Amino acid sequence: MTEAPDGPSGAGPSGLGPSGIRAAVIRRYGGPEEFRAETVPEPAAGPGQVLIDVALAGVNYADLHCRTGGYARFPLPAVLGADVIGRRRGDGRRVAALLRTGGGYAQVACAERSFTVEVPDEVGDEQALALLEQGATAYAALALLGRLRPGECVAVTAAAGGVGHLAVQLARELGAGRVLGLASTPAKREFVRSLGADAVFDPAAPELAELLAESGGVDLFVDSAGGRGLRDGLAALAPFGRLLCVGARGGPEEAFAVDELAERSAGVLGFWLQHVLDDRVLFSGVVEQLFRLAGRGRLTARIDRIVPLSGVGGAHRALAARQTMGKVLIDVHREG
Ligand SMILES: NC(=O)c1ccc[n+]([C@@H]2O[C@H](COP(=O)([O-])OP(=O)(O)OC[C@H]3O[C@@H](n4cnc5c(N)ncnc54)[C@H](OP(=O)(O)O)[C@@H]3O)[C@@H](O)[C@H]2O)c1
Repeated sequence: MTEAPDGPSGAGPSGLGPSGIRAAVIRRYGGPEEFRAETVPEPAAGPGQVLIDVALAGVNYADLHCRTGGYARFPLPAVLGADVIGRRRGDGRRVAALLRTGGGYAQVACAERSFTVEVPDEVGDEQALALLEQGATAYAALALLGRLRPGECVAVTAAAGGVGHLAVQLARELGAGRVLGLASTPAKREFVRSLGADAVFDPAAPELAELLAESGGVDLFVDSAGGRGLRDGLAALAPFGRLLCVGARGGPEEAFAVDELAERSAGVLGFWLQHVLDDRVLFSGVVEQLFRLAGRGRLTARIDRIVPLSGVGGAHRALAARQTMGKVLIDVHREG
């Protein structure tokens, strides 16, 4: 690659490292076919940053929007990818990191020191990486913003997904009385039941709101799908219920009138993980809690697949086509 990747890899034209590394690169915004495994300059760490020799990189749903240019528009050519695990340069410690400006789908990543966490021995690479972005989102949504109280009923959309399957387990762990999941295929629903959900429904069921509202209604509805499903979520809420939005899939936005909320004494909440990251103590506390639960076998991430660098486009296709359950990972040292 002749041009320097300006933003996502963390290496601007003036900050190129000495050697080339392999990465999945996009040279324009578009479909999954835009990814190419290429040699790019190694990023160079600036103040407050660390280099990580990456073992595995994660794929997150937001990467799909980044790829089309619909979310964070990184300068092109770009290396996407928001979470990695590997060895920190300098001390060789095993660390996981969140990358807020991309650069994860590569053999070396540049991370903010404050978004980097050491991983305890009892938590393996795959588990730690699957827990970092999606687990922190699930935990913070339930415990911090959702203020889940013991005995409450929680419903989770995309419950077999990266965030969702961890939210189902964490809701149980945090003392939810009843946990409901939404998942679009029988295999996914079976998987969600195996995680301890009390009932699992098809999000396309016409009578969904009634099904969810059985047994007294939902206290905390954790939604990552957006669109019309939010109406079902609101309709299913018990008095003092919270509809908590962690994501959307690009459908039409829903707006709620204050009167609709007052009729149920309900709240609509929006969550962004960045606000957890902004508080170093909060972030490390959340991640420590996740690693502790994983280390004790009380929280287990499902790894859907591990693809080589040349398989990133296929991984994006599978995520968009709703074909994955759990976390999708990239082995940045394999190409085919
Ligand atoms: N707020 C934050 O800071 C934050 C942080 C991390 C993630 N997120 C959000 O959390 C959500 C989950 O992220 P993730 O990475 O764990 O992804 P994911 O849930 O594993 O994404 C795949 C699943 O999403 C569901 N889905 C629902 N509507 C879809 C549609 N129109 N197209 C494709 N899939 C659809 C599908 O499950 P079914 O087929 O079962 O419906 C699919 O299997 C995303 O919206 C993401 O942006 C937000």
